[in-house]
Order: sequence, then structure tokens, then C-alpha cells
Amino acid sequence: MLKVAVIGCGNISGSHVPNWMKMENVRLTAVCDLERDRTERWLAKYPDLHIYTDYAEMMDQEKPDILDICLPTYLHVQYAEDAMRRGAHVLCEKPVGLTEDEAKSVYRTARETGRLFMVAQVLRFWNEYKYLKDVIETGRFGALHYGRMYRNGGYPKTSWHGWMMKNELSRMVLLDRHIHDLDFLVYAMGKPEHFDVFRRTKGVEDILTVIYRYGDAFVNAESTWYLQEDVPFTAGYFFAFDKASLDYDGKKLTVYPAEGGSFCPLNRNNAYEAEIRYFAECVEQDRPITMVTEDSLLAVMNVVDAIDGR
Ligand SMILES: NC(=O)c1ccc[n+]([C@@H]2O[C@H](COP(=O)([O-])OP(=O)(O)OC[C@H]3O[C@@H](n4cnc5c(N)ncnc54)[C@H](O)[C@@H]3O)[C@@H](O)[C@H]2O)c1
Repeated sequence: MLKVAVIGCGNISGSHVPNWMKMENVRLTAVCDLERDRTERWLAKYPDLHIYTDYAEMMDQEKPDILDICLPTYLHVQYAEDAMRRGAHVLCEKPVGLTEDEAKSVYRTARETGRLFMVAQVLRFWNEYKYLKDVIETGRFGALHYGRMYRNGGYPKTSWHGWMMKNELSRMVLLDRHIHDLDFLVYAMGKPEHFDVFRRTKGVEDILTVIYRYGDAFVNAESTWYLQEDVPFTAGYFFAFDKASLDYDGKKLTVYPAEGGSFCPLNRNNAYEAEIRYFAECVEQDRPITMVTEDSLLAVMNVVDAIDGR
């Protein structure tokens, strides 16, 4: 039975902790957060959990096979490298780190220590995005003409001590939202060589549109933090091909074939559970991580750095 520990009990831990609890051959034994009340919230739901406010103490006491990192972005690489040096495999929330250099460093450590390291790029496990990738790769609906991807809503006011709103700690909407769609594009269509960036950042408002060119097709990826924090979050896509258009509104995917007769081709899945299950199986079966590779993430981070001129 593999032992797992989660560090960081903020917002995204809500998509990790309950999913770890569903795994058959894996046991989540401990959670850690600097804020004790955040660990106690999970203890109230899962009374067998051990809770910690100190990372090193948790690692020493629990000796987990897997550390799941749900910390703020600026801590990802530091904690991932330390955990791998202590012998744990690491699942880390997106993004891999703040820069391409950080991404190179963490993968170097994974190689040196022989540990598995995976970034939780959840769209790669999301049924509606897996379907889109398949349509692109098989050419089932002909050539791509145009795509629109969006990830919009109010700014993330609830982040711990406002770390998300500090560019040097988070790179704001670029690594909070846009990286999901960029990562998908790199995964499904390769690294975009040509793109135009439009960005307006003022205080906590951050509005970013990048138009990626692939041959004579282009994909408009729009990511926003609006000034009004209560603007609801919406994310989805529209892709137009020769023989059909695909419209995913964040709830339902509809395929509109040229000959008419629209349909929904699949059921929604729990992509967070899927990514966790995949990682646990790779560790259990000692298999390499092929769903989220170093090469593709370095390509993503290379584009990220170019988008804001680094
Ligand atoms: N995949 C997704 O859809 C998705 C969604 C949201 C966030 N994320 C990613 O998850 C990460 C965390 O984001 P969040 O929204 O949960 O942040 P958050 O601010 O809600 O939570 C961060 C937590 O980390 C804790 N923490 C900070 N430093 C610590 C330390 N040294 N030791 C222990 N605990 C510490 C804080 O107390 C806080 O509870 C980010 O990198 C973000 O990009 C991914």
C-alpha cells in the first residue's frame, strides 16, 4: 500500500484530498499546512488523517511514497526537489514552477534521484479536451480553421495572503489560467512558433489574449482576471474544422457536423481523479510518466517566458 501526503490545504486541495481517498492501493495518511485550521478541516472529514503544520516533521514521521504538492506556485520546485531527495515521488499542481529554468531544475533532480515527477496539468485528463485532441490528431473532421479557448472570471481574491496577486510569486493570470490552454495546445498541436500577445495588467486586473498560429489556422486563447471578484469563472472552447465545429461551454460538449444533427459525444469525467489515479498507477507499476512529459512542459514554459518578454 503506497503512502501519500498532501502539502498545502488551500483551494485546490479540495480537488486532491477527496480523490486520493477514493484510491484502492494508496492511502493518504497525512496533510500539512502552515495554517492549522486548514488541516483540521480535512481531519473533521477524514478522522484517521495525521495533520502537520511543519513539512519536515511530516516527511520524517510519515515517510510518504508520494508527496502531492498543492502549495503556491513559487514554492513548487523547492518542495518538489526536497521531497525527491528524501525519496518521495512527487505529484505537483500546475504550473511546474515560475520559469523555464525552474522547470529544467526540477526535472534534473527527478533524473538524479530516480523519482517520478508529474505536473498536474489537468486538461490532459479532461474528457472534452481528450476528445478535441483526438479530433485534431486523427483529422476525423478535416483540417482545423480556427479555435477559441477561454478561461475567464474575477481575480482570485481568496489566495493565501494574496500571493496570487503578486506577479513575482505567481506571474498572475499567465500561470494561473492561461497555462492550462497553452499546455493543451502544446500537447495536442505542438509548440506554437508564432503568436501575438495582447495584455492589459493594472492592479489585480489582468486581461490576456494570445493568438497562436498553426499554419493557416489560428487559436485565440483568452484568459482573464476581472476587477470584480464575483464574476463567475467560465472556461471552454470552440474549434471549427472542415466538417464539424466543436463547442464546449464548460458543462457540455456539442459537435455540430456540416450535414446537421448535432450531438454530445461523451460523458463528463472527474479529471482530477483521473490525473491522480494515473500518477498513482505509474508509481505502483514503476512506469514512466508519458501523459505529462518534460519536453512538452519545457516547451510550454519557453512560450510562457516569451509571452511576457523574458
Ligand atoms: N489545476 C487547477 O485547476 C488549479 C486550480 C487552482 C489552483 N491551482 C494551483 O494550485 C496551487 C495552489 O493554489 P491554491 O489556489 O490552492 O492556493 P491557496 O492560496 O488557496 O492555498 C495555498 C495553501 O498553501 C499553504 N502554505 C503556504 N506555504 C506553506 C508551507 N511552506 N507549508 C505548508 N503550507 C503552506 C497556505 O497556508 C494555503 O493554505 C497553485 O500553484 C495553483 O496554480 C491549480
